[in-house]
Amino acid sequence: MNLSQRLASAKHREGISGTHEAVGMTVSHIESPVSGIASDHVALADVSGSPEPADSLRAAASETLVTEPTVRSTDSLARLKAEAREQLFARLGNRLSDTSLDETQLHELVRKELIQLVQVTETPLKSEERRRLIREVTDDVLGYGPLQALLDDDSITEIMVNGPDNVFVERTGRLTRSEVHFASEEHLRRVIERIVSRVGRRIDESSPLVDARLEDGSRVNAIIPPLAFSGSSLTIRKFGKVPLRVEDLVARDSLTPAMVELLRACVQAKLNILVSGGTGTGKTTMLNVLSSFIPSDERIVTIEDAVELQLQQDHLVRLEARPRNIEGRGEITIRDLVRNSLRMRPDRIIVGEVRGGESLDMLQAMNTGHDGSLSTLHANTPRDAISRLETMVLMAGMDLPLRAIREQIASAVDVIVHLTRLRDGTRRVTNVTEVQGMEGDIVTLQDAFAFDYHAGVDHTGRFLGTTKSTGVRPQFTERILDQGIALPHEVFGIPDPRAVRR
Ligand SMILES: Nc1ncnc2c1ncn2[C@@H]1O[C@H](COP(=O)(O)OP(=O)(O)O)[C@@H](O)[C@H]1O
Ligand SMILES: [Mg+2]
Repeated sequence: MNLSQRLASAKHREGISGTHEAVGMTVSHIESPVSGIASDHVALADVSGSPEPADSLRAAASETLVTEPTVRSTDSLARLKAEAREQLFARLGNRLSDTSLDETQLHELVRKELIQLVQVTETPLKSEERRRLIREVTDDVLGYGPLQALLDDDSITEIMVNGPDNVFVERTGRLTRSEVHFASEEHLRRVIERIVSRVGRRIDESSPLVDARLEDGSRVNAIIPPLAFSGSSLTIRKFGKVPLRVEDLVARDSLTPAMVELLRACVQAKLNILVSGGTGTGKTTMLNVLSSFIPSDERIVTIEDAVELQLQQDHLVRLEARPRNIEGRGEITIRDLVRNSLRMRPDRIIVGEVRGGESLDMLQAMNTGHDGSLSTLHANTPRDAISRLETMVLMAGMDLPLRAIREQIASAVDVIVHLTRLRDGTRRVTNVTEVQGMEGDIVTLQDAFAFDYHAGVDHTGRFLGTTKSTGVRPQFTERILDQGIALPHEVFGIPDPRAVRR
């Protein structure tokens, strides 16, 4: 092993799994420190001075390891760390989740307490060890503990914690087990409590499941025993810092250039568009891409359960629904926000996902002049999207006859963009479907583009087909052209009827 490998492995033992067996041990179990360290005591003033940037502390910590990478010292340090953490929690208790204190005040408080704790400890520490101890315990107590490193790693898109010893991560779509551990169920619970309390929520036996969002937009779901049988469970869906753009979707074969042309024109012409598909098929990503086609002089209101969309336009109001609080009050639903948005003079209303009664308000808005609305919904086919929408409108509790609902849908929705995650793992727009109107009691749909499943698969199982024009020119192209928006006839692979007429 070379030095940097030794360093890394020593760091790993110490910082991650080293604390594993440490919690619950009493001071008497702590091994005496390696001789030599004791002589290097430093004055407390060294660590209690003005806060140093984390980087220099980290550098200092690595230097210590270069000179003293012994297992015994890291072991006792780990125990000390666990001890310090326990004691700190015991001394500060609820003040750690006191939302009236801001981050700086909290840091100051924890720092002061920690310095006192370290001062009375019987284990002699080098100055660097002392600093590192304080930094790591602070990370644990004020940051997200062992999760911090995973959160900072941009290649990780999802973090799943199933109890203190099982942490899994997703990188580029692949799930792997992470080396990270929590010291105990208690430790995990504290990190969870810290995450939820910082966003003004609470998790305990009386409300054992919480959905929350970190400051950076990452989504967090936590569920604790007794509901989570094998230990507290935490799922973090990290906020993609750079969302996929239209070029990325074309590069991934999710969209063809012709479809991009068509969809861009649809958005610019203010057609009402629904993005449908199953969970994780890329609906939100597609909504984000479609929204990027909205001209920058329009006023956009986005409404989401949890903010996910990342629009680049300046004139943007982002609204987020609020769940009911612990007393069961204060809920603001998507539906409330849709209604409110109508009074905000929107040029565009974008609803992250319709799931219930808000669909009626959304349809009514579309039918009363709020054109160019965009939303997503969960459905298996474009036809299924229509029937789900019917069911959702029924959830609004207005007791409307089915036919009236269908008429509303048929006149409000212009286009359905349907996404499928194919067996080869690719996510593709498999249908661009026009909602034409009603025929009898049925809403008539017509595909403008459809995925060619007949092309089969290659030897790796990858689908060879693409989503092609069906040769049917949608009726809404007239509306697009009437507004002077360019839509080359090559998009449909058929001659332009206007050109022929002229
Ligand atoms: N066309 C695509 N190709 C590859 N990955 C995609 C595509 N669209 C979305 N993704 C990725 O798939 C995941 C789920 O996407 P998301 O838009 O949130 O899906 P949904 O809203 O349908 O649940 C995200 O990690 C996203 O980056
Ligand atoms: Mg989504």
